Amino acid sequence: MVKNTAKAAKKGAISIKNVTKVYDPGGVNVMAVDNCSMEIAGGEVCMIVGPSGCGKTTLLNAIAGFHSITEGSIEVDGELLCGPTKPKAEQGADRMVVFQHGALFPWKTLQENVAYGPTVQKAMSSGEAMDKAGQMLAEAGLGSFIKKFPGEVSSGMARRAEIVRALINNPKVLLLDEPYRAMDALTKQIMHESLLETYDRTGVTIFFITHDLEEAIFLGDKVHIVTTRPCQLKKTVEVNIPRPRSYETQSSEEFRKLLDEVNEAVHEEAVKAFKAGERELA
Ligand SMILES: Nc1ncnc2c1ncn2[C@@H]1O[C@H](COP(=O)(O)OP(=O)(O)O)[C@@H](O)[C@H]1O
Ligand SMILES: [Mg+2]
Repeated sequence: MVKNTAKAAKKGAISIKNVTKVYDPGGVNVMAVDNCSMEIAGGEVCMIVGPSGCGKTTLLNAIAGFHSITEGSIEVDGELLCGPTKPKAEQGADRMVVFQHGALFPWKTLQENVAYGPTVQKAMSSGEAMDKAGQMLAEAGLGSFIKKFPGEVSSGMARRAEIVRALINNPKVLLLDEPYRAMDALTKQIMHESLLETYDRTGVTIFFITHDLEEAIFLGDKVHIVTTRPCQLKKTVEVNIPRPRSYETQSSEEFRKLLDEVNEAVHEEAVKAFKAGERELA
């Protein structure tokens, strides 16, 4: 069961203003995002859903600083990450990304993986980083596995360790791109509980892309439904279900109503995407 502990200061507000992203202008010229605006409060769990290929990852990559934007601006806590005078955000430990496909070093233990970032960035001595990594892994329920290699633990445990690795730098924002996509329903439940516990401990702002509408409502404060490509905000559904949320929450009438609302909006866009011939992006 998730404890309802007080959250840290609500940092990590993301302001996405009129963002457009065109890949390879003059060449292939793919408009992935078009004049998209979104406001995400500090400490909010913001879920992004929309059809495959609509531009969700493009938006996340722009926030992370993996590529430039064509127009508009993105700010975190009022500080410009990218905008008219600066097309690309710098990558930084204040915005950590967890990808769809795992990215732990297979030759390092879970503890060494988690300690790696702050050690190479010289944010901590290697001893301090290893201690902190051990402690944080234990908090995430992985205390007995810190000396294991990623190949020796389940995919769910490895995924939890990745989130711990992202959090050791105490980021303002956690950017998750379909992190549980390949998991079975039962493993996902464990992942969700673990993520919500982590969220309650840290109050980190979460920007989370998913295809799973139940996941979006169960985890989110808000669900932003985006249009078929080019990505724009279509509708925001507020999830006013109190936390801590448990699995009974999912069978409540309130939950089912929100699910219908999100489903209807996403379905409309999926039909458009299908007619436009967008292909499924694995
Ligand atoms: N580097 C790139 N060059 C050209 N087009 C790209 C590139 N990356 C993604 N795209 C295109 O941009 C669109 C949006 O992709 P993406 O953001 O990955 O969608 P989503 O994450 O919503 O599935 C897709 O049509 C995709 O093919
Ligand atoms: Mg994607």
